Amino acid sequence: MQTKNIINTNMKLWKIALMAMTVSVAGQAENVFVNTPKTTLMLNVNEGHTPRISYYGSRIDAAQAHEVYEAGAVNGEAYPAFGRNSFDETALSVTHADGNMSTELAVTGWRTEGDMTVITMKDRKYNFFVDLCYKAGEGSDVIETWTVIRNGEKKAVKMEQYASGVMTFRQEGAWLTHFHGAWGQEAGMTEEPLTEGLKTIVNYDGVRTAMGDRAEVMLSLDGKPQENSGRVIGAALCWTGNYRLRIETRGKYRHTLLAGIDGLHTTYTLKPGETFTTPVLAMTYSEEGKGGVSRAFHRWGRNGQLHNGKALREILLNSWEGVYMNVNQEVCEQMMDGIKELGGELFVVDDGWFGRKYRRTHDDKALGDWVTDTVKLPKGVPALVKAAEDRGLKFGIWIEPEMVNSTSELYEAHPDWVVAHPTRELSKGRGGTQLVLDLSNPKVQDFVVSIVANLMKENPTLHYIKWDCNMSMQNFGSSYLTADRQSHLFVDYHLGLRNVLERIRKDYPELVIQLCSSGGGRVNWGAMPYFDEFWVSDDTDAQQRLFIQWGTSHFFPPMAMAQHVSASPNHQTGRVIPLKFRFDVAMTGRLGMEMKPSDLNEKEKEYAKKAVAFYKEIRPIVQLGDLYRLLSPYDNKGFCSEMFVTEDKSEAVFFCYKFENYIGLETPRWHMAGLDPDAKYQLNEFGSTERNSRFEGKTFTGRFLMETGIEARLGRQFASRVIRLKRV
Ligand code: DGJ
Repeated sequence: MQTKNIINTNMKLWKIALMAMTVSVAGQAENVFVNTPKTTLMLNVNEGHTPRISYYGSRIDAAQAHEVYEAGAVNGEAYPAFGRNSFDETALSVTHADGNMSTELAVTGWRTEGDMTVITMKDRKYNFFVDLCYKAGEGSDVIETWTVIRNGEKKAVKMEQYASGVMTFRQEGAWLTHFHGAWGQEAGMTEEPLTEGLKTIVNYDGVRTAMGDRAEVMLSLDGKPQENSGRVIGAALCWTGNYRLRIETRGKYRHTLLAGIDGLHTTYTLKPGETFTTPVLAMTYSEEGKGGVSRAFHRWGRNGQLHNGKALREILLNSWEGVYMNVNQEVCEQMMDGIKELGGELFVVDDGWFGRKYRRTHDDKALGDWVTDTVKLPKGVPALVKAAEDRGLKFGIWIEPEMVNSTSELYEAHPDWVVAHPTRELSKGRGGTQLVLDLSNPKVQDFVVSIVANLMKENPTLHYIKWDCNMSMQNFGSSYLTADRQSHLFVDYHLGLRNVLERIRKDYPELVIQLCSSGGGRVNWGAMPYFDEFWVSDDTDAQQRLFIQWGTSHFFPPMAMAQHVSASPNHQTGRVIPLKFRFDVAMTGRLGMEMKPSDLNEKEKEYAKKAVAFYKEIRPIVQLGDLYRLLSPYDNKGFCSEMFVTEDKSEAVFFCYKFENYIGLETPRWHMAGLDPDAKYQLNEFGSTERNSRFEGKTFTGRFLMETGIEARLGRQFASRVIRLKRV
């Protein structure tokens, strides 16, 4: 079954390879160009030699190749292997069938067809093959790279290191931007100069790839990273499991990024004839600062990497912070009435709705038993769906399908289905009973698929699923994998997950699925082709959200960022924040609510109605437009601002916030970005409580708004403003 997994994963590639073979060319040293509309990656490829990266930057053509060499090419190995002349970090390290630990890859050919470029390599002495793949098209400025590794030897080969891709550049004074965090404080941003040595970013969670550090980095070539100027390379490893990103700096100015699955405890064996396809490393290059990198990744997402990336997302109410596990028919109907009155479109029942023998009244039981708790919901989920639809709302439901509590009927029936080593005592997670199901096991994969299939069968109009995941792999071991393949678990779990998600997507392409994992613990481009959106964080405090959302937006599109208005005082931090500020912060992504609407007073309800109606007007700008981050909350100024501009630059919406206050803290002058300099825009503010709105209804050129800027004072702490711009 393992073989099948790997081979299935490769089917698409083999097809591409076969098609491409017809146009395959090989020969003398050649410059191979991987082009996007605005960028070029140039590789120097020479049969019998190792391929080299010569250039990655703004788009050049073949006639300019000589300039690259005359100026001094990057000349970094495109896929360095361990064992011979490997003084630096390597991408590949394997033990061949005869025990030889060295590999020497040499080019055997290369071919380009459509948006695919494949450089084929073989070990000089062994029947061991690596195809270096690059995919780039006219649709976006993101280049995808990965490798296909094939064992043609007579016995098994063991892989210790099998990176997806490598990028080398030469620049003094380069900086690194990376993201880290923990529950409730996801996507914390650190920016630091790249100094000599090795910087490593890893994830060891086993299940939640973004719980802790994240698999995306930006490398700024012109010193301290700027939002809208300077050359920046952005890179994201698209993998839901453990990973390792390495940035090696030699001397002051030679930097190499290597990214891939983490090989620690993950030696992967390839039997004779087997292949392994590494996950994609997605990269872009921009001369418009970090913002340019973000916009390229956002567009790449909307153009296909994010599930259903062109469709507008609905405004929803999620039951979690409103009632936690105390869901029942009556309280859900009250919440449905509430969100309907405010103008919402979807109601989602969160954790707590299931369990028969063991009822989900607390987080210590029932995970795995996906049947309705008929004490809470006597008429089952169909009655909830009907109640929502009677009110003109769509309906969604929470599941945590990869997990089980030891207090559950599922665990009683299948104790061997959990990730664990049978000789050891179990280390349990949430509620003191939570365990991870072993997705390397095809029977477990079928079970997880059946959870969604059963819900869909019972409720054919079910519109939305919140797919949660709240535990790391604490008990390393699999009852399914053979003794010699235990070290495959960290990888095979995720190949199993991918298989499950592909099957679900094949059967239910229209189902909206939210990726949630103790908040934003799984935010990664390896997951997004199967998910429409993700829960950014369990921390719904609007002040802290400014930081979390700021970091998250560096690589992920606002349309996929679930941002909910919750109660005040906030349940996580206790902070009291006005409703307008809470809405203004949530409106910069996919707006939702996470509270009992009946807790709002009449004045607040009236405001919420207006805010929801306003969001519907700006929704296409926020969800499908380009994001320009303006003033960073990390600048320690106590302010933050960003704006969204439609692709044709005819409309925009500007947001600014003040989250600190002391006498003498002056509001900065706001400089906009992304507008058409020669167009005239009319400014209209939404819901302001501030003085100084001299610009209201007035018209300015885009150039004036960007260069000279406007004054829009923010008085109190937690004052915020939202200004809509329309080209006139
Ligand atoms: C963790 C999620 O992040 C929350 O939003 C909520 O769904 C809980 N799990 C439910 O147990």
